[in-house]
Amino acid sequence: MKTKHYFIQTFGCQMNIHDSEKIAGMLKKIGYEETQDKAEASIIVFNTCCIRESAELKIMAKIGDIKALKKANKDLIVVVCGCMTQQKGMPENLKKKFPFINIIIGTHNLEELENYVLKYEQTHKSFNEIWETEKEVKEQTPTFRTSKFNAWVNIMYGCNNFCTYCIVPYVRGRERSRKVEDIKKEVEELVKTNKYKTITLLGQNVNSYGKDFNDGKTNFVYLLKELCSIPGDFRIKFMTSHPKDFSLELIDFISSNNKMSKSIHLPVQSGSNNILKIMNRRYTVEHYKNLIDEIKNKIPNASITTDIIVGFPGETDEDFLQTCELLKYCNYNGVFGFVYSKRKGTPAEKFENQIPINIKRERITKLFEIQHKIVKELTDRLVGQTIEVLLEEKIKDCYIAKTDGGKTIKIKSENNLILGNYYNIKIKKALTNDLIGEII
Ligand code: 5AD
Ligand code: SF4
Repeated sequence: MKTKHYFIQTFGCQMNIHDSEKIAGMLKKIGYEETQDKAEASIIVFNTCCIRESAELKIMAKIGDIKALKKANKDLIVVVCGCMTQQKGMPENLKKKFPFINIIIGTHNLEELENYVLKYEQTHKSFNEIWETEKEVKEQTPTFRTSKFNAWVNIMYGCNNFCTYCIVPYVRGRERSRKVEDIKKEVEELVKTNKYKTITLLGQNVNSYGKDFNDGKTNFVYLLKELCSIPGDFRIKFMTSHPKDFSLELIDFISSNNKMSKSIHLPVQSGSNNILKIMNRRYTVEHYKNLIDEIKNKIPNASITTDIIVGFPGETDEDFLQTCELLKYCNYNGVFGFVYSKRKGTPAEKFENQIPINIKRERITKLFEIQHKIVKELTDRLVGQTIEVLLEEKIKDCYIAKTDGGKTIKIKSENNLILGNYYNIKIKKALTNDLIGEII
């Protein structure tokens, strides 16, 4: 029998990247093999994102691109899943625009995908299946991991925060935590093989992990303690954090445990209290700065990154200036900057004083200029320092690693070093794009 192939196109965040590993796991279970070539595929899955309008437009274009493939191969199965499909009216919209789509699935029933594909294989009848909530936190979904040394692990799903710009709570539902025992079992399995050196815990707001258990005991630090007690040479990262829930206990724990990675992603979104208020972020710039001070005091080698939105409705020049000031204050190792994008059904969509696109563009350019300078200074400062890094690949006689802030380090060595192991590296030189290091 001819081998059936799958092609998955993933858009969006780490959560989606990991969901695609589950999609791959399920498809393998029912007899499909991976292909990198769309033309060879018997099934194409679009795992979608809707965080900004730009993502949706890109996805629409990509779905449109396969019209010809589907025309040439009537048996090709086209599946669309992920955050975009969970929006009200979207499945109907998609079907109208692209009648060739066969299966549309929402975020709450992704784990049913294998059953849906089997059903379609038998009936050849297209259908949409969107659930408003899931029946239970699903365990045991087969997962085909695609990253080399890093393993993604969900610790919770959904978000309760309702930041006024954000569509996530509407498409991913309320917070649901996985049980400590289930997460621990998964991490134990992953590190046992010695293959995964970084475990990245995923959740929309990992700092509120366990609140839904209401047991007076389980919280994020409790979970981290349990995971760090697992023997092995691995590091634990996590994303994403919310400054209102990021505790001093957590900072102490990161600083005191050598299994905890020292890179911290702490999205601030804006440096203006007025804007934070209308974003419904529920912390002040002062609270955020205190957290940053505390992190820098307790974890001197911490690498801190953030997310910023510019051009939120009502953002004045003064508000934006305050964001620029905050960037300088925090000296971030990296900034993910976004232009505000209206999302249907969110409160901010209806806010007055929407900012014209030319001003948004000016602001994001300015933001990146400032950040660029900061990163250059931080990188120059690394010269002469020794840092611990994971060797990720070897190109000719050069080993490649990354700093916590994401800069590439090139390391020439005659020694036979092991990819996937941690080494201490002394930074010798900072070039425009890379760093040069040597093994010590
Ligand atoms: N417009 C622009 N950026 C957004 N983000 C979330 N919603 C929007 C939106 N409507 C950004 C936030 C968040 C990151 C994942 O995406 O900065 O932290
Ligand atoms: Fe969106 Fe805010 Fe929840 Fe993050 S915390 S997913 S920005 S609503």
